[in-house]
Amino acid sequence: MTYTLTTPLYYVNDKPHLGSAYTTLACDALARFQRLIGEPVLFITGCDEHGQKIQRTAEAAGLSPQAHCDAVSAQYRELWQRWQISNDRLIRTTDPRHRRIVEQFFARVEANGDIVEGRQQGWYCVACEEFKDEPATAAAPQCPIHQRPLEWRDELNLFFRLSRYQESIEALIAQPGFIQPVSRRNEVENFVRQGLRDFSISRVNLPWGIPVPGHDGHTFYVWFDALLGYITALLEEGDAPDLDLAVARGWPAAVHVIGKDILRFHAVYWPAMLLSAGLPLPRQVFGHGFLTREGQKMGKSLGNVLDPALLLERCGRDAVRWYLLRDIPFGEDGDFQQQRFIDLVNNDLANTIGNLLNRTSSMARRWFAGAVPPAGDGARDDHPLAAAAHQARTTTMAALAQLDFRSAAEAALQLAISANGYLNDQAPWSRMKQEGHEAQVAADLYAVLEAARLVALLLAPLLPDLSARMLEQLAEPAAESSRPGATGRNGCAGVGCGRGLPCRSQAR
Ligand code: MSP
Repeated sequence: MTYTLTTPLYYVNDKPHLGSAYTTLACDALARFQRLIGEPVLFITGCDEHGQKIQRTAEAAGLSPQAHCDAVSAQYRELWQRWQISNDRLIRTTDPRHRRIVEQFFARVEANGDIVEGRQQGWYCVACEEFKDEPATAAAPQCPIHQRPLEWRDELNLFFRLSRYQESIEALIAQPGFIQPVSRRNEVENFVRQGLRDFSISRVNLPWGIPVPGHDGHTFYVWFDALLGYITALLEEGDAPDLDLAVARGWPAAVHVIGKDILRFHAVYWPAMLLSAGLPLPRQVFGHGFLTREGQKMGKSLGNVLDPALLLERCGRDAVRWYLLRDIPFGEDGDFQQQRFIDLVNNDLANTIGNLLNRTSSMARRWFAGAVPPAGDGARDDHPLAAAAHQARTTTMAALAQLDFRSAAEAALQLAISANGYLNDQAPWSRMKQEGHEAQVAADLYAVLEAARLVALLLAPLLPDLSARMLEQLAEPAAESSRPGATGRNGCAGVGCGRGLPCRSQAR
């Protein structure tokens, strides 16, 4: 079964920000991990290009909405290329095939009796593209997320009969594992418990959207159209825009990775829409936390927005990936701190991992003509580093499968720390000066080189660049986690080995 994973489809009202880079990096690590263990992966990202927000931004820039979307989506494409994101698809909701998929989906939902006309009154946030539950007051309340006044709306719209799905959605969100992390489930449960209300899925007087078939003057509400982008994205180049074909290509998604602010759309509205159209439901929705910078919310007005393109240019891919994935528990809010960033990168990547690799390869060069020395006792199952390696492999694999990038990073790092510690204890540089100790030095060095190799492989999903450089230095083929559609090459099928990643026996 294809492992389909998605980032949100990013609004193209502005250039990519660190929040979008964060989700995409995490998904990239997950996609690489799944490929490494041999799963066929479809990694989807993309751009959400319709709606009032985009229309207004384009108008303000004096561009047609399409020209504006073309320009910003190109920035996303370029950024993901520079980050070497291994996405298989980049869907744009202005793709003509997407319109056909939305129309077919809508026809099914309508045929199922789930579309009704109704009056929509309420406070709307254009930046969120969402009605808020604020009471009708004379003065406009502020959007709690964007700190901007809400706009009053009173329209005749088409509604999706969400209320019919109360029980199914309650059962779905009660399923262990559907909403992750568990801490985010309560918030959705509370919302659902209050009783699901039908929600409007069309807008009138909004030309920048997909027209609703059979309902003149209506265009689809941007969220109705955008969520379906996950399905359009499954189509291969040259495929006809056929909903069933798209579904057959890789639906349902194994996981939608999103920020916590858009959980309700993914865990409530979207499953109900899919149920109505008779399509399978995503297996998991993972809501990660928000990033702040030096304790402050990032915002244009504060002038403290971190530009991911600039960050990449200044610090490099490995450093940024390491910091974001290793320091911030995925699922919780996190704070980007410059000093901590520098410290972590220096301590972990340079002093621990870099040092391990440099000293081991230089000893192999100096004493063993650059070859891996004879294994001797260094390959024994009861070698002290064997237990550390086993522990690191088991923990990293389990953590990556659960999107716990921090634990995965720590476990791999711990193996590097253990290997460095072992070297310090054995001090082969002193032994080498003594007669008759060469076999022991060889065995020690073998064990440490093997640990370094495993560190590199375990890090492949998190730090593909560093991993590839380490493996190259160790003269080992790179872990095949990057190529879309590739399956693991370094995988071990040996009995008793963790699935996918190599066991010690392969190194001999
Ligand atoms: N277009 C919708 C998603 C549609 S999915 C079918 C959207 N786009 S967005 O560009 O506004 O947001 C994309 C993602 O960025 C969201 O998951 C949001 O949570 C995330 N982030 C925005 N700011 C963020 C931070 N400061 N930190 C982490 N993620 C943040 O919503």
